[in-house]
Amino acid sequence: MIYTKENLSSLDKIYRLNLINSITGYKPANLIGTKSKNYQSNLAIFSSVVHLGSNPALIGIITRPNTVPRHTYKNIIDTGYYTINHISKDNIKKAHYTSAKFKSNESEFEKCDLKEMYIDDFYAPYVEESEVKIGLKLIEKTVIKSNNTILIVGEIVTIIIENNLVDTDGSLKFENMDSVCISGLDSYYETKKLAKYPYAKKYELPNKW
Ligand SMILES: Cc1cc2nc3c(=O)[nH]c(=O)nc-3n(C[C@H](O)[C@H](O)[C@H](O)COP(=O)(O)O)c2cc1C
Repeated sequence: MIYTKENLSSLDKIYRLNLINSITGYKPANLIGTKSKNYQSNLAIFSSVVHLGSNPALIGIITRPNTVPRHTYKNIIDTGYYTINHISKDNIKKAHYTSAKFKSNESEFEKCDLKEMYIDDFYAPYVEESEVKIGLKLIEKTVIKSNNTILIVGEIVTIIIENNLVDTDGSLKFENMDSVCISGLDSYYETKKLAKYPYAKKYELPNKW
């Protein structure tokens, strides 16, 4: 099968959505926790979460265009704080349903049976059930002109994770965790560690592939 730009645009809308949404491979599965300036908590599943740099520690999320009210976006802009929380195997279904169109005065924490958790005086709620919880402060937003999606850049303020889930070199031990990943907008996968290699140097290529 070869898709071209022309026949992509003539594909059935849902087919194209599924194809393009899964074409980049597995995506991370996270819940974004926020609280409005009127103290209403909100939770939404996001797969467009991307590492932007480790010093300073920056994470980007992409939100859809503001053609309808977007509670996550509004809360982040209004308050400046949000959390990113890994989705674990036991909570896939609950996490998925946070994507339903709830009203601004309804909390997905309550509707989808996930526990909000507050740590120190951080304004935004974490998801208690998540093995990895990240607290972020908004530092920049950029509209992607091509389609009006918005890149929100956050600086990591806090990471909450059990000691035994972090390796001696700082990497997360995903093999000991229950975090899942996403394909498209509806499929959830678990993963298996296959290999770990040293930093690649061109003068130290393996003798044998
Ligand atoms: C698997 C999955 C991944 C999603 N990823 C994103 C995403 O990366 N960005 C986004 O804006 N919406 C994403 N959504 C849609 C939001 O979860 C949905 O629009 C939600 O209602 C937003 O809630 P809010 O208005 O409370 O922010 C995703 C939905 C699903 C099911």
